[in-house]
Amino acid sequence: MLDFARSPAVDFPARPFQALLRRDTRNRYALFAKKADGEGFPQVAKLFRAAAAAEAIHRETHKAAIVELGGRIENFQLAEVVPASTAENLRAAIKGETYERDTMYPEFLKAAKADEATAAIRSFTFAVTAEKEHAKLYQQALDQLGKNPPADYFVCQVCGMTLTALPAKRCPSCRASRDEYKQIT
Ligand SMILES: [Fe+2]
Ligand SMILES: [Fe+2]
Repeated sequence: MLDFARSPAVDFPARPFQALLRRDTRNRYALFAKKADGEGFPQVAKLFRAAAAAEAIHRETHKAAIVELGGRIENFQLAEVVPASTAENLRAAIKGETYERDTMYPEFLKAAKADEATAAIRSFTFAVTAEKEHAKLYQQALDQLGKNPPADYFVCQVCGMTLTALPAKRCPSCRASRDEYKQIT
């Protein structure tokens, strides 16, 4: 059993988890969705809502992992988010997701594996798998901005995986039943 207080990697998993909770992409994307609706991009707004729903699930999985690893969830003030234009918001979202996919989660996963912190490995893996999809979907939305074709979004309530069609049987990321998928409207 991992001894959180004496974790060999200094302040792991506290530091990665606190950094994740502070990033709060859930809140950011929810605000970007409102902005997209206001600017007349309902399809992009729907994508931001889907990603926000996924990030909310990641947040809960990360919190559960903190508790499982014997850590404490600190209280803090969230940084204020001021949305820019939808094109800018999409660019910022792509930058954020790309950083998470290529740099942040790989580093966190390395630390979690060194620590054999199973709960952290699981929640980081769920998150990074979904972030890859978010980066792709955001890039598409930016490329097609103003003429975004209608699309549906489905979010796995277990792992936050975000898809444009329901999986045939199981979630491709966490293997939960397709019944765990919720359509975002
Ligand atoms: Fe994401
Ligand atoms: Fe899943």
